[in-house]
Amino acid sequence: MRTVVAVTERVAETPSTVTLRFPYPTAAVPGQFVMLWVPGDDELPMSLSYTDGPSKGVTVKAMGGTSRRVQSIRPGDRVGIRGPYGNHFDLSPKRVLIVSGGSGAAALAPAAGRSIAAGSSVTVALGATRAPELLFKERFRAMGAHVEVATDDGSEGAKGFVTAVADRLLQSESFDAVWTCGPEVMMKKVIAAAAPRSVPVFCSLERHMKCALGMCDACAIGPYHVCVDGPVFPAPRLENLSDFGTFHRDSSGRRVPL
Ligand SMILES: Cc1cc2nc3c(=O)[nH]c(=O)nc-3n(C[C@H](O)[C@H](O)[C@H](O)COP(=O)(O)OP(=O)(O)OC[C@H]3O[C@@H](n4cnc5c(N)ncnc54)[C@H](O)[C@@H]3O)c2cc1C
Ligand code: FES
Repeated sequence: MRTVVAVTERVAETPSTVTLRFPYPTAAVPGQFVMLWVPGDDELPMSLSYTDGPSKGVTVKAMGGTSRRVQSIRPGDRVGIRGPYGNHFDLSPKRVLIVSGGSGAAALAPAAGRSIAAGSSVTVALGATRAPELLFKERFRAMGAHVEVATDDGSEGAKGFVTAVADRLLQSESFDAVWTCGPEVMMKKVIAAAAPRSVPVFCSLERHMKCALGMCDACAIGPYHVCVDGPVFPAPRLENLSDFGTFHRDSSGRRVPL
């Protein structure tokens, strides 16, 4: 059932991402998502970037028409929320490496926060195209995470892909788990980097969704529905799926190369 709420806060996080906060007291666990409905427009799955307390939040990157309209929402405007849906990160590992690409930090930041609050140590490899797009860098640091940065253009941190930073960290430090969210191509590389060290990797997938209830097939990848079997998948479930890192599906269900 959808609840209509009034947005209380809008924060421009980076040039391409905006956080909306809204009252939504239903309990949520980091990694879960909600279906965000823009009146007069479509409904989009969005990871909860703030999961704790009665005020929740989503952090939206400008992609197509609907996400751009979400970004134009102002405090006082109404949106529809249903959920939270899906599974979540297992927060029990004590030494966690987070690998984040672009807006993937939205799903990962609340997991880092709860994990650190419970006594775990968290290292974040944070990647973006350029320095101003490094989402939640200060938020991760304020939580007590150790943050290492990579930008495609070298404007901050290591120049190049964040997967190179992740690979170096996996070689030099010991971790009990890797949590990653971002482009599937990036997550595939993270899985490959962790494999020789036998560190379990958990990937949060973003696929087109309609029902979020496991009924319409819009989010199918191999034998799984991302909405109910995910969005967080252990690497062994993804490794042999031909679509992972190669194709996504558009709103009509057509396979589109990534
Ligand atoms: C569980 C889950 C959590 C999500 N969390 C967030 C979040 O926290 N923040 C956020 O900004 N978005 C998140 N998304 C993605 C979001 O739901 C939308 O897909 C995105 O906002 C684009 O929607 P749109 O209608 O504006 O663009 P569209 O019109 O659908 O797409 C615009 C362009 O992006 C491409 N595209 C769309 N989806 C994908 C994809 N999965 N892989 C590659 N290319 C794609 C399209 O081909 C098109 O070129 C999440 C998705 C899922 C399933
Ligand atoms: S969105 Fe309908 S089955 Fe997942």
